[in-house]
Amino acid sequence: MERTRALLRQLDQNGAPYADAEEAAALARQLREVVRFHDRKYYVEDAPVITDPEYDRLFHALRALEEAHPELETPESPTQRVGGEPLDAFEKVAHPEPLLSLSNAFDGQDLRDWYTRCRQGLAGRLADDEPLRMSTEVKLDGLAVALTYEEGRLAVAATRGDGQVGENITRNARTIRTVPLRLAAPTGEGPPLPERLEVRGEVFMRRSQFDAFNERLTARGDAPFANPRNAAAGSLRQLDPTITAERPLSFLAYGIGPATGAVPSTQSATLDWLSRMGVPVSARRERFVDIDAVVAFCENWVDDRDTLDMEIDGIVVKVNRFAYQEALGAIAKAPRWAIAYKFPAREATTTLRDIEVNVGRTGAIKPEAVLAPVHIGGVTVSQATLHNADYIADRDIRIGDTVIVKRAGDVIPQVVRPIPEARTGSESPWSMPARCPSCGSDIVRLPDEADYFCLASDCPAQFIRLLEHFAGRSAMDIEGLGSKLAVLLAEEGLVTRLSDLYDLSKDELLALEGFAEKKAQNLLDGIEASKQQPLHRLLTGLGIRHVGRDVALRLVHAFPSLEALGEASHEMLTTIDGIGPVTAESVADWFAVAENRELVEDLKALGVNTKRQPAEAPPEAQGGTASPIAGATFVLTGALENRTRKEAKEAIEQRGGNVTGSVSGNTDYLVRGANPGSKLQQAQERDVTVLDEEAFTRLLDQA
Ligand code: IVH
Repeated sequence: MERTRALLRQLDQNGAPYADAEEAAALARQLREVVRFHDRKYYVEDAPVITDPEYDRLFHALRALEEAHPELETPESPTQRVGGEPLDAFEKVAHPEPLLSLSNAFDGQDLRDWYTRCRQGLAGRLADDEPLRMSTEVKLDGLAVALTYEEGRLAVAATRGDGQVGENITRNARTIRTVPLRLAAPTGEGPPLPERLEVRGEVFMRRSQFDAFNERLTARGDAPFANPRNAAAGSLRQLDPTITAERPLSFLAYGIGPATGAVPSTQSATLDWLSRMGVPVSARRERFVDIDAVVAFCENWVDDRDTLDMEIDGIVVKVNRFAYQEALGAIAKAPRWAIAYKFPAREATTTLRDIEVNVGRTGAIKPEAVLAPVHIGGVTVSQATLHNADYIADRDIRIGDTVIVKRAGDVIPQVVRPIPEARTGSESPWSMPARCPSCGSDIVRLPDEADYFCLASDCPAQFIRLLEHFAGRSAMDIEGLGSKLAVLLAEEGLVTRLSDLYDLSKDELLALEGFAEKKAQNLLDGIEASKQQPLHRLLTGLGIRHVGRDVALRLVHAFPSLEALGEASHEMLTTIDGIGPVTAESVADWFAVAENRELVEDLKALGVNTKRQPAEAPPEAQGGTASPIAGATFVLTGALENRTRKEAKEAIEQRGGNVTGSVSGNTDYLVRGANPGSKLQQAQERDVTVLDEEAFTRLLDQA
């Protein structure tokens, strides 16, 4: 950094450096080293130590110097990452050692079978009681490339091709910032820089970059790419390297090919060694001696794959020691010493048969895709969300289109985009209907809302959704009352207001299709038990806009009963911690409606609890002794900055809380780190309180 500062000062004083030949050569060398150092900080370590304008000054000074002294230009200069003339075709490159592919494992048993085969293959070398060391890496979903370094300089970059012969993409690879043009001499343990070394890895596009890149394409009228892999492939195989240079590509190494000179003796040591030479490698690598632990690790990743800013399609498990790898060898095109545990696919293409609209509990009208059934990640999908009318219009999704459908974890499947190339001309554009499909009222768009709404207060579809929500797991949790029964009860006219639930008789239920004595009694017991639910659950169940579980808890902290809350003015509500003006208005408006006040009265008269229970009181009212963590259930997602997952889990458990792997009706808190996975969306859908790391730390401190 000293050098950077000194150079910046020198540039400030002298302006553009037009020095004499000798001085120029020395200055160019210094500038290159400094620019390379900051390139590495920025692109490889993702931890820049100077500002962008400072970097630009150094970079431009170097370029100016090279322009003034063309004899100083070298292909390894950091200025040489951009372009050159387009090619007519790529040259072929024969790989000195073939680039193999991987056999796949689709479940734990496949992994165990692979492990058994490895042990058998090593029977002469590995005693029965000796552990077989394995390493795991994420399997990046991009394109394999081989980078050959001679004397530490990038000489050739080649695609995998058919494994034997690839294409020379050196000029394109040079434009990728994370591809080192020069290797650093490795520090610490391990052999020195080999004379010649082939580094193998994957070129890919980060998800965040992909989204932004696709937006840029769409904005200028170009077709977007279907996924990051296609975008990376399309960008790398450009004959004009200036186009590649504009694309946000990344590179991560996962191994080495042939080398002239010594290399480490294991896979894990090799990746550490590469990293010390300035080659980017994934931080997500582990070592194991136990195949059961490998299986558990791989299975765990299925849920966590979205926590990374890159698409991964599995976990690669490798025998760690090179001597064992050699002994095991390869069959056909794949080595015996490695296997890819593949995650279930999450995207598929199918036909969009129709677009229907659903009326939500708040009256929001949601378009939904009716699809030709398609298999994705182990389930058949025939419906998917289309979010809202803008989503459909922005992507020009038409009925009859071939569409890409995505399903991530437990999240509702969604239509990602159409494939316009597959159109036949018979597709038809869609528009929002003018009237509510349930009650026939006008559908309107409210200012600042993405959704269209049916504003009728007596819309049957809205009531069915409300009833379903009221009985749901985050609210009154009435066992057996799901969406089917909600429809039946409402359509038969047995329940037309929420309070009617508590008036249901057994005879009425027995008259319904599919009801016998036991089922009717169970439902009545469930309804009866729900009368004692804590107040925040009742409040959540009323379906007041913006009042999910978290807001309900805050309101119940502030008011001892539903009646007291009903008396509160809009101003009073806004003084509550965490309640903003929009929520306050929504609550006050709800209680201002006579029918709603009547509903509260009726629920109370029917024996439903409308008072705060001691456990719901704010911590200070409980003498400050209650821990907000004791008894609470947490789910963790994404990477935390100040602690590992294991540490977070221990901290929660020490305070009497527990941690589970997935979001359910019992989840109290979701702690979100960087790049949260699908769990975040699940938590939001269930109104689970979401804590960022700062809020989580505060909660730990309180408890
Ligand atoms: S090892 C001989 N490690 O997956 C072993 N491959 O399906 C082959 N890939 O062509 C490569 N991440 O492009 C290895 N950590 C990783 C990988 C990885 C992604 C790709 C690679 C290969 C393909 C095989």
